[in-house]
Amino acid sequence: MTPAYRISSFADYQTAYEKSITQPEEFWADVAQQFQWSKPWTKVLEWNFKAPAVNWFTDGKLNITENCLDRHLNTIGDKAAIIWEPNNPQENTQTISFTALHQRVCALANALLNLGIKRGDRVCLYMGMIPELEIAVLACARIGAIHSVIFGGFSAKSIVDRVQDTQAIAIITCDGAYRGAKEIPLKAVVDEALQECDSVKKVLVFTRTKCAVNMLAGRDYSWEQELEKVAASGKTTCPAAQMDSEDPLFILYTSGSTGKPKGVVHTCGGYMVWTAYTFVNVFQVEDEDIHFCTADIGWVTGHSYIIYGPLLAGTTSLMFEGIPTWPDAGRFWEIIAKHRVSILYTSPTAIRGLMSHGLEPITGKDLSSLRVLGSVGEPINEEAWHWYDEHIGKGKCPIVDTWWQTETGGIMISNLAGITPAKPSYATLPLPGVQPVLMDGSGQKMLGNSVSGNLCIQFPWPGMIRTTWGDHERCRMSYFDTYPKLYFTGDGCLRDEQGFFRITGRVDDVLNVSGHRLGTAELENAINMQEHVAESAVVPFPHDLKGQGIYAFVVLKEGIPPSDAERAAIHICITENIGPIAKPDKIQFVSGLPKTRSGKIMRRILRKIAEGEMEHLGDTTTLLDPGIVEAIKTGAKNL
Ligand code: PRX
Repeated sequence: MTPAYRISSFADYQTAYEKSITQPEEFWADVAQQFQWSKPWTKVLEWNFKAPAVNWFTDGKLNITENCLDRHLNTIGDKAAIIWEPNNPQENTQTISFTALHQRVCALANALLNLGIKRGDRVCLYMGMIPELEIAVLACARIGAIHSVIFGGFSAKSIVDRVQDTQAIAIITCDGAYRGAKEIPLKAVVDEALQECDSVKKVLVFTRTKCAVNMLAGRDYSWEQELEKVAASGKTTCPAAQMDSEDPLFILYTSGSTGKPKGVVHTCGGYMVWTAYTFVNVFQVEDEDIHFCTADIGWVTGHSYIIYGPLLAGTTSLMFEGIPTWPDAGRFWEIIAKHRVSILYTSPTAIRGLMSHGLEPITGKDLSSLRVLGSVGEPINEEAWHWYDEHIGKGKCPIVDTWWQTETGGIMISNLAGITPAKPSYATLPLPGVQPVLMDGSGQKMLGNSVSGNLCIQFPWPGMIRTTWGDHERCRMSYFDTYPKLYFTGDGCLRDEQGFFRITGRVDDVLNVSGHRLGTAELENAINMQEHVAESAVVPFPHDLKGQGIYAFVVLKEGIPPSDAERAAIHICITENIGPIAKPDKIQFVSGLPKTRSGKIMRRILRKIAEGEMEHLGDTTTLLDPGIVEAIKTGAKNL
């Protein structure tokens, strides 16, 4: 089953990379030919970064679920597609074969059609980490509806923003979800959100926790009952809608430097080719692998490396409902031992969190099945890298440090497990098809090695963002305007003396907290909603576990004294407007913010203070009131 595009040596990597640059169309046509298309493409690539307009496999017709499921039925139909490990270790594991997954996806796809959901409609999914979420994603793709998964930890207000922006006609949800010791009432959150969402006509509710839910007649439908109707109709398959290669497959919201999250759009053909290609090559996938990606399907990592990449490659993907530290900090290691996991793909935050529990939770757990380890979502510090290598990989598993973004669809810069060299805290080399360039402050390309600058990509790759939903101009401005003819990632990057890339972090107003992207403007908007807040400024600061923590400088309205009650009210406001992941780690009440004469907040100064740097704050002469800085410094020391 090893696909022909799997790279098997360093020389092979060099050859593939070279061809992907010199003959990109031939290169990607060879890869794409290994998938099932109902109509071949007429052109491999058409592009222009100015508009931007990028088309891969123009006129080609396909359905990604046929490639994920139908294509495998005759060969590996009985193989496990999903192994699901529930939150509570006392509850039974579920194993779903490719054949069974195909049947369940077809059944749900028929149920969605019965509810009147059509090709091109947007469907939001707000569910826990259960197989039904994956089935719902695939059922949407089966009928050509555009899925938009909303992370189950987001608030009702976040659902409102996403539903209104997509104009979704349906939401698929659960009664509730389990997360460690907590039970989260998802349907109740959806009900609250729907008071402000006119577009939604149908809500499909899967029963997970059996908590009480309100069902509104004519709008809310039971998943189980709808499936019974499908079964009674005798339909066992559902024809796959034949999509244009460039039809949208999904919309996934991510934070940018302005207040509102943007809906990143990925399309069917290019995303399919990219996720499969990157999955197979980075992890050096083998037939018998059990791949355990610990991300949530609410983020892009879950889309690409729990669902699509593994299914396309015919790999068993382990899906976990819980959290790493419940019932205890040995949960991951127990799962690995129980299911003989061979690939573990997790985040530096999870690694650091587990590291803080010492070695006791690992003791006695058989991790000998592990073959490859992966890291994603944020820079991995050397200490965490070495701990991962020594205590989890036992010094014998390559660690792939995979750099990519929601916008890139799949992994862009990473070592290939055991094939290209690893270097702690370096993502190392670009994948075939990826042409990174570093730009200096004056907009010049930085040539040669041992340089650092802003990371851009100078040529399209199949999995790249096509637009931001409903606002193409925003896509252009966010990614293609800073540097002409380049995609700008928003990340700073260093290229060392060997030409290896090390991502140093965001250079825009985006924070990366525990691998979650949050915009400073988005956070400030939420804080400013608290009725006693006059204004605020949010900056990151180094955090031992989360990578970056959130530091909020808050000015209260005239006459309101700072207090713990005000602090608590801000936390509530953030939880209601975004979700608990966005709660500030530190809130410092200040009498004013450092502003220039034109009213611009000088975040550079606040960043330094948040980092504990009180002396070298740089030029403060352009400040309207330099005295304010002294007061902020004193307050920070006393916080
Ligand atoms: O700053 C980079 C960081 O995460 C950002 C992308 O976040 P998101 O779109 O939520 O996707 C996360 C999962 C792919 C990037 O702009 N980032 C991601 N991977 C790495 C990383 N920073 C350093 N090293 C990485 N391996």
